[in-house]
Formats: sequence, C-alpha cells, structure tokens
Amino acid sequence: MAETITQAPETVNLTIDGKKVTVPKGTLLITAAFQAGADVPYFCHHPRLKPAGACRMCLVRIEKMAKLQTACTVPVSEGMVVDTLSPEVKQAQQGILEFLLINHPLDCPICDRGGECPLQNMTFQYGPGVTRFIDEKRHFPKPVPLNDYVSIDRERCIQCSRCTRFQAEIAGDGALAIESRGNSAVIAPFSLDGFQSHFSGNTVELCPVGALLSRPYRFQSRPWEFHSTDSVCSMCGVGCNIAVQTRTNQLMRVNSRLNEDVNEEWTCDTGKFEQYWVNSEERITTPMIRRASVLKPCSWDEALTAVAEAFSSAAKSSSNTVAGIGSTRTSNEEAYLFQRIFRTALGSNNIDHRMHDFPIRPMETSLAAIGEAKAIVAIGFDPKQYLPVVWLRIYKAISNGNATYAHVSSVDDPAVEAALAVGEGAILLTDDHIASADLDKLTKRAKSAGAKINVLLPDNNSWGAILMGVLPDRLPSLQPVGNGARPKFEALWGGPVPDKPGLATWDILKAGAAGDIRALYVLGSNPVASFPDRDLAASALEKIPFVVVQDLFLSESAQYANVFLPASSFIEKAGTFTNIEGRVQPFGAAIRPVGDSKPDWQILSELYARLGASAPFFGPADIAREIAHSADKNTFAGDRR
Ligand code: SF4
Ligand code: SF4
Ligand code: FES
Repeated sequence: MAETITQAPETVNLTIDGKKVTVPKGTLLITAAFQAGADVPYFCHHPRLKPAGACRMCLVRIEKMAKLQTACTVPVSEGMVVDTLSPEVKQAQQGILEFLLINHPLDCPICDRGGECPLQNMTFQYGPGVTRFIDEKRHFPKPVPLNDYVSIDRERCIQCSRCTRFQAEIAGDGALAIESRGNSAVIAPFSLDGFQSHFSGNTVELCPVGALLSRPYRFQSRPWEFHSTDSVCSMCGVGCNIAVQTRTNQLMRVNSRLNEDVNEEWTCDTGKFEQYWVNSEERITTPMIRRASVLKPCSWDEALTAVAEAFSSAAKSSSNTVAGIGSTRTSNEEAYLFQRIFRTALGSNNIDHRMHDFPIRPMETSLAAIGEAKAIVAIGFDPKQYLPVVWLRIYKAISNGNATYAHVSSVDDPAVEAALAVGEGAILLTDDHIASADLDKLTKRAKSAGAKINVLLPDNNSWGAILMGVLPDRLPSLQPVGNGARPKFEALWGGPVPDKPGLATWDILKAGAAGDIRALYVLGSNPVASFPDRDLAASALEKIPFVVVQDLFLSESAQYANVFLPASSFIEKAGTFTNIEGRVQPFGAAIRPVGDSKPDWQILSELYARLGASAPFFGPADIAREIAHSADKNTFAGDRR
C-alpha cells in the first residue's frame, strides 16, 4: 500500500514583545500578535474581511523598518521582531485616536452604541484624555434612513470601510460604497433606491462606532440594561445562531451568534429585524372558548377540559374522526409530544404538518460544504429570498473558490448539465416544491456525475416535525407506522400505537369538508391561509364540529376555532429546533410567557394529563430525554446532532 505523506503546513517564527511565536505562513501580523498575547487596538481589521489598512489604529514597530506599520496589513515573515508596547507605538495610537475624534461628535450618552462601542473603549484605553481640537466639527443630517432597517449617522463614521467590504466581500451585493473623497467622504448606498441588501443588519454589528444603526432598536435600550439569551432564529430552516436580547420582558434586539458550521457570524435581515412580532400587542394571551358564536376569554382549565372532552368523545366513537395538523415552527419536543398524544391517548395516526406533498430527503452535504463547492446550481428557487444565509455560503464558494453559480427554473436548464460536468465538486440546490419526477431525473444524473443534491426545506423546524413523527405514516425517526419499530414505541409509550397510516393534511381537510372529522387540533399552523386550496381548508374547518387552534395570533384558521389556546413565542420557552441539515440546536427561554400564554409543550402536557397520560412531562428537557432514548441516530445521513 502506498504511504501517504501529509505535508506539515509551512510555519514562520517571529518575536513579538520579546515573546517567540510560531504561526502559519501568510498569517497577518495582527493575528500573530493576538496569539502572542499582545493587545493591538484596531477598528477596520476583521478576520473575515480582506485587509484594508483604513484606520491606522494597529500601528506597531517592526525591527529594521523605517516607519511604524499597520499590523493588520503586514503578513508575518521569518525572524520578524515586533514591538507593540514602546512609547513610540503608544504615542502613535494616541495620535490616531485624537485624529479620529476630531470630527466625532460627543454623542456617547445618546448613542445606541455607547457601552459596547469599540471607539469609546479604545479612547478610554489608548486615547488622549483631552482634545486639542477647538474648531467646528463636520456636520451631517442625522440619522438618515438607508432602508427599512438601517439608518446612518454620518457624523460618527470613522470610515473604516468594514461595512462596504462586508457588502462587497461577504454579501456579494456591493450595496454600500464610499462616496466622494477626503473630508467629504461618506458612506452611501450604491443604489438610488437605498441600501438594497438582504444582509444590511450585519453592518450594524460590524460598524465599530454608532454610525450604522438598527432602526427598530434605536433608543429602545442601553446594552447594559438588557439580558442576552442564546437562541436560534425562528424565521427559516438555516437555524442561524442568535442572541435574543431582552428588557422588561420584551425583545429589544437580535444579534448574531458565532457558529462556524451554520451561520459563521452572520444573520439575514429577516432574522435580525423581523422577529419583533413576539412583542406584538395583537397577540392573544388568554384562552378563549366560543359561546353564542363568539370567542370569549375563559380559564385554562375550562379551555383544556373542553378540548379533552371533545377529543376523547370523538375518539371513543372512532379514532378516525379526530385529526391534528401540526407545525414546522414548534420545537422538536412539542412536535414529539403532539404526535405522542394523538397516537397513544386518541389512538389515531391522523396527524400531519405538511401543506403540500414534498420529497423527504436529507441534505447530501452540510451547509459549510456549499461554501467549498466548485459548481452550484439553484433550481426553481432563489436562495437569497428563501434561505438567505445559504446565499452567503454560495457567495463564499464563488468568491473564494471561483465556483460557478446559476439560478435556473428547470432541471433541464443547460446550466445543470454544465455543473454536473464538474462532477464531485458540484452541488445542486432545490426546494420543497420540486416535482418528484424532476427530482428522480436529477438524482440519476447527479449520481452518475458524483454530484450532490440538497433539497432545502423552508422553516426553522421543518425537519423537526418530520423526524419527530408528525406524519400520518411515520413514527419518530421516520420509522413506518406498520413496521417493526412500533413495538419499541408501544413499550416506551405504555400502550398500543395504531399500525395503519392515518390521513395526510389534504385528506384530513377533504374528510373534514365531507363531515367525517369530528375534532381537529390545529397546532401552530394556519391551513386556511397556507394550504394551497384555501377554500377546501376553510370549508373543512367550518364543517368540523370541534376545532381547537393553538397559536399566538387570531389567525384565519382561528376564526373557525371553538377553543383558542394562546401559545408562547420561541423566546418565552426553551427547546430545540432541527435545521435544514439535520442539526439539532438548543434555544433558551429569554423572557417569561407573555400574559396568560403558555409554551406549546406545557399546553400539550396539561392536555395529555386530562386525556389520561400516565405521567406528565414537566419540561422540554423531560421530553428531550425521551426523544434521545427513542431516536434512531442513523435517520439523518451524516448525523449532525
Ligand atoms: Fe460614543 Fe461610540 Fe457612539 Fe461615538 S459611536 S458617540 S464613541 S458610543
Ligand atoms: Fe466603518 Fe461604520 Fe463608517 Fe461603515 S459606517 S465605514 S462600518 S464606521
Ligand atoms: Fe489596522 Fe485599521 S486595524 S489599519
């Protein structure tokens, strides 16, 4: 057998502040300095952006060089001797800060960035104590909205170009630019229509001052006032890691959180700015029961007793007359409990969450692998609109690896053939609307070419609903209801589980409209608005004698509810979501449930107790333990849990 020789990476030895350090060849001096424990101040440097040398804050002395050098632009070289602490360096740092502050307003007390501002912090640590500048500073109108989410305070900008480089190098849209030169230079949208990007919110986090501002967050809180909770975005299937920042039991801000495998350190604007619905005053936070055709507030006991009675009496007559439509947005624990209640307490497999039929096919690569592809084709959907952070991976492959990319509408487009010709490095992306005949055709071609196919599902817990068994013919871990896995679940759940597949959503609605369903549970979904045949959904819900809707808002489907159960949002509860690549990610409770609302798992657990559960579940961790016990770890190719 041939011996494999792994080549060690080339390294460089240098001395920084008298300390010897060895780093890979090509490392920037600022990175080596951090490795050596040196504290080099910086503004424009960012490890994911190309060096710019724009702010001059990172000046250091390199032996044998005539002038001080910017550590963020100089690659290390063998034998380099560097000083980051000498009086000369300290004086330069002070000088740069004094220069940057010449035109900077004294806004800290009213600036959103105050308290977490690199410029404020650097000034305290490295800057001069007083200013010598007595002339008029530059003035601009402030703040100027750039789009619906971001505004700019140009007086505060230090022209570090982080924002423009992010838009050009990471988002790939070049949506911001530096306009004019010298003292007149300002950051401005490239387009006359404003800051046109799906990723504009990242610049607010990247900006080292309070120049780029979040419009929804402006003046809402100071950074030291809120509490930050690790969470997972609820807006699409990527599952970006986020920090949910809250104050007075309300969402103040969503910031991104680092996860190299999922979102690196980015979010899209939907994730960052479109989750304030959790604060909405239109949320229903009291249980309601229909009396004389009107939904009226009632107690939890009254509501849950009515639901339990209606469902057990219908199931007693025939378990075929009860049905549940779950959601792609509730947590794994909630989805699991939902199907467990239907299968054990009501003896029915009539549960589903799908609004249309789609291929249940795990991704063949990880998200990160998309960024390494050699050829990518998105077929039938636009990743930027649909799963925006997937686009960042695509753009990474385009910009770093010279990958080819095409966005086409048909599997027969010549671009698909061109990508397949690349072979192993090719990744074909499609969504849940691909026709199965097209997917079969694509699969055959991809297989012979060695390419991969990723069918991307839309919602934050699309895969959770599938893997937890909210399907009429599948138990958790995609086990068919009729096969040998059923006894395992019967033993775990302490009772019989029906062995015949139940009704899918479309059959539930048809049966409902035909008068064959007596009780329907709609958990976190809205068939009247999202089922393709809305008339069928509406007539089914109208015809079914007992409909319970569990949701945050009085949705179109809730108009037909006999009982409305107010659920808490994802920031009011803990649990896990499973993202598009099958990665199970935990999220924490950031605030208390709003009003009288309860987390879905708690509502289900209390209902289950009324339906005769042998032992209640006391929390998501309780349910998660059972899921871990029952899960088949081989369900998802390349298990990422
Ligand atoms: Fe103060 Fe920073 Fe805001 Fe400038 S950007 S006003 S230094 S908090
Ligand atoms: Fe830098 Fe912020 Fe100015 Fe952009 S707006 S150049 S990120 S200081
Ligand atoms: Fe080095 Fe800005 S951080 S020049």
